Amino acid sequence: NPLVGLVGWRGMVGSVLMDRMVSEGDFAHFEPLFFSTSNAGGAAPSMAKNETQLQDAFDIDALKRCEVIITAQGGDYTTEVFPKLRAAGWSGHWIDAASTLRMKDDAVIILDPVNMPVIKDALAKGGRNWVGGNCTVSCMLMGVGALYKAGLVEWMSTQTYQAASGGGAQHMRELLTQFGTLNAEVKALLDDPKSAILEIDRKIIAKQRSLGEAETANFGVPLGGSLIPWIDKDLGNGVSREEWKGMAETNKILGQGEGFAAPAVPVDGFCVRIGAMRCHSQALTFKLRKDVPLADIEAMIAADNAWVKVVPNTREATIRDLTPVAVTGTLTIPVGRLRKMAMGPEYLGAFTIGDQLLWGAAEPLRRMLRILLG
Ligand code: HSE
Repeated sequence: NPLVGLVGWRGMVGSVLMDRMVSEGDFAHFEPLFFSTSNAGGAAPSMAKNETQLQDAFDIDALKRCEVIITAQGGDYTTEVFPKLRAAGWSGHWIDAASTLRMKDDAVIILDPVNMPVIKDALAKGGRNWVGGNCTVSCMLMGVGALYKAGLVEWMSTQTYQAASGGGAQHMRELLTQFGTLNAEVKALLDDPKSAILEIDRKIIAKQRSLGEAETANFGVPLGGSLIPWIDKDLGNGVSREEWKGMAETNKILGQGEGFAAPAVPVDGFCVRIGAMRCHSQALTFKLRKDVPLADIEAMIAADNAWVKVVPNTREATIRDLTPVAVTGTLTIPVGRLRKMAMGPEYLGAFTIGDQLLWGAAEPLRRMLRILLG
């Protein structure tokens, strides 16, 4: 059985990855070698077979034993270890959740239900670096990839509603702590049905504005009862790094734009952090290359993959099936609010949601492992 190294399996993305791999019986197909950055020599988790001791994640010789390494350890680890491992002559497959290597020419952004031809092409050319995409981009393409595959998209604008989990586990905790603090501030008034709502509102805004460093350390400002229209670094040109990724990664996943024969499709919009836990949502506006009947568009999207689900554009279906609460913990990618927009028949609106820890992070990695193991 091939030896597969697992790094960063204990963090949030890593834990979701392990759960999915157990659910899908992935461990039957390889011998796992579990690595740790802090507890080498300790006991490997129960999925271990013959290799029951944790290996040092910085031990290049130990890493070199693996035919495949799959890491959710994070970008700093990749930056430190990956170049050393390749310099030491390791020619195995590196599967990574971090963004570090994503835009490198010799790396493929993996999302096989959308870009299997790109993956196959790279494999045939000896590709060995496989990187999971930005969560927002991956979830979006799982939903509306059909329109791109059909060459229908002239441009797309996306307005995102991104969950706390995109920042990390600490961000989710911080959001809930803020909600708790806010609730506690007005608990007595809430319990009294005759209390004045404007008094509650005044107390809440005062509390939000005075939240201490301890309660805003991760987001920098309150998120509970607010929103933050900036995600990731400031690129200095008015664009956030998360917004830049929208166009760069969408095109790279599809095998178009820089480095490919086909031109890039413009993708732009605003990325906004909201107080959801782990589902990223997006309102999309497409300029299509031609006027395609809505029923045809719905059928095309629905038929694209096993996980996308078209939600009828009615109030009842939307509030039931097209929310982070409905989607969390599932691989379903609902696409709803599909309609032609007032700007003209080539303008299509849509709204889509995905669990950013599943299709947005863990799922493409384990699927790439299965592709490599054949
Ligand atoms: N950058 C994403 C976010 C997370 O902050 O929501 C993962 O791609």
